[in-house]
Amino acid sequence: MNAIPPNSRLRYKSQLRQSADERREHTHPLTWRLNDDGSRIGLDEYRRKNGYVGAQKALATDPADVIEAMKTANVRGRGGGGFSAGVKWSLTQVGDHLPRGYMVANADEMEPGTFKDRLLMEQQPHLLLEGMIIAGHANRSKYGYIFLRGEYVDAARSLALAIEEARDAGLLGDNVAGSGFDFDIALHTGAGRYICGEETALINSLEGKRANPRAKPPFPGQSGAWGKPTVVNNVETLCNAPAMMQHGADWYQELSGGLSDDGGTKLYGVSGLVNKPGLWELPIGTTGFDILERAGGMREGHTLKTWLPGGASTGFLLPEHLELPLDFDTVGQYGSRLGTGLLTVVSQRQSLVALLRNLEQFFARESCGWCTPCRDGLPWAAKILQALEHGEGRPGDIELLQEHATHIGPGLTFCAHAPGAAMPLESAIRHFRADFEAGIATHGSAAATPDQEVS
Ligand SMILES: Cc1cc2nc3c(=O)[nH]c(=O)nc-3n(C[C@H](O)[C@H](O)[C@H](O)COP(=O)(O)O)c2cc1C
Ligand code: SF4
Repeated sequence: MNAIPPNSRLRYKSQLRQSADERREHTHPLTWRLNDDGSRIGLDEYRRKNGYVGAQKALATDPADVIEAMKTANVRGRGGGGFSAGVKWSLTQVGDHLPRGYMVANADEMEPGTFKDRLLMEQQPHLLLEGMIIAGHANRSKYGYIFLRGEYVDAARSLALAIEEARDAGLLGDNVAGSGFDFDIALHTGAGRYICGEETALINSLEGKRANPRAKPPFPGQSGAWGKPTVVNNVETLCNAPAMMQHGADWYQELSGGLSDDGGTKLYGVSGLVNKPGLWELPIGTTGFDILERAGGMREGHTLKTWLPGGASTGFLLPEHLELPLDFDTVGQYGSRLGTGLLTVVSQRQSLVALLRNLEQFFARESCGWCTPCRDGLPWAAKILQALEHGEGRPGDIELLQEHATHIGPGLTFCAHAPGAAMPLESAIRHFRADFEAGIATHGSAAATPDQEVS
């Protein structure tokens, strides 16, 4: 793997829409170090900007107290589920055997419309390594893995170089920073499959097996990689740990500024027909309205019809829902999920049926095929949607789609892939039934080709 020089400009342009003037250490813990030109932050620059201070503090703290701090700060999983990171870390604390197991960073990021972890890994790889050292110490692991989406070539180069830099500086390997703690990290690139992001499929893939999800329980915290307790956390989740350790749990909790009971900031983003698609680090609980405004609103000639709050596997919301604080619990109360927190907006001029067909084709293609309703149901749903898109639907098709959505709902399949596919399908029909009815042959054509394909 070729090393890229520190501070070199990456081919990919930064999608962060906040300038360095706006980003401060005490308000933007994830992004304040980033340079406006999107250049990669090497070890020297990272350390000049207080890098590894949180890890030093964590290494001098009892692992149980680190876990307590994560719980108090209420760091919730940014991979989509919002599960408490502190609680997850506490699940591995069983038995006397050391090291306990493995620490895995989930960097698969294949959720359509999601591009947040990529920014962190390409431009600030040491933040992830620091978060993993803290998590590894808390969980008493000896080895950490970064499971990276195969297509993220620049992130792979950036992380590989950071691992080398950290090893040379004694921040990885035996006796990390003179603390007596041994911990090293390996970078593992996947083959670019969505299902590899599901934590148990990821573990199978890491072990060199086919990436089928495993039945739960046991959960990875009990028996994960190679049968050992394993913590799997999203990249952004782990990137919250250093500042939380450095400044304390109360400081972290208050970053949300009373907008939410959740702690910290969130990398929110917008894609679709807006003027300035991109990413923003904002207090968790910021409204969709505020985020859309930062994105410059809808492009000229377009008005907002509907939006997904956090990737393809979340439910469609309406324009009036833009007023909601975007946190895990609030969005859940309105029939959707915060998911990854990157909004996908849909214009009145786009065909929702075509967009949904595109999404369901993606889910069908990415099914691992283990459960029948997912393996056979998703291609069937995509086929019906294709017919509706072309005005060739048949009476009863909408009801059939609704039945499919029920059969692949939560609890009926081995993993959350199929329920994730059901969410946009069910919510689109619930909110916009007329769009589907227009695709039934007797009603004429379902109209417009989408301006934008999402996949
Ligand atoms: C089909 C599918 C794909 C997923 N893809 C990702 C992913 O790319 N990145 C991620 O962090 N979590 C992904 N998840 C969620 C993980 O299973 C897991 O919940 C997450 O990594 C836990 O991290 P967190 O607690 O820090 O959020 C996916 C889940 C499913 C069902
Ligand atoms: S729900 Fe789909 S992706 Fe998940 S285990 Fe079943 S077949 Fe595989």
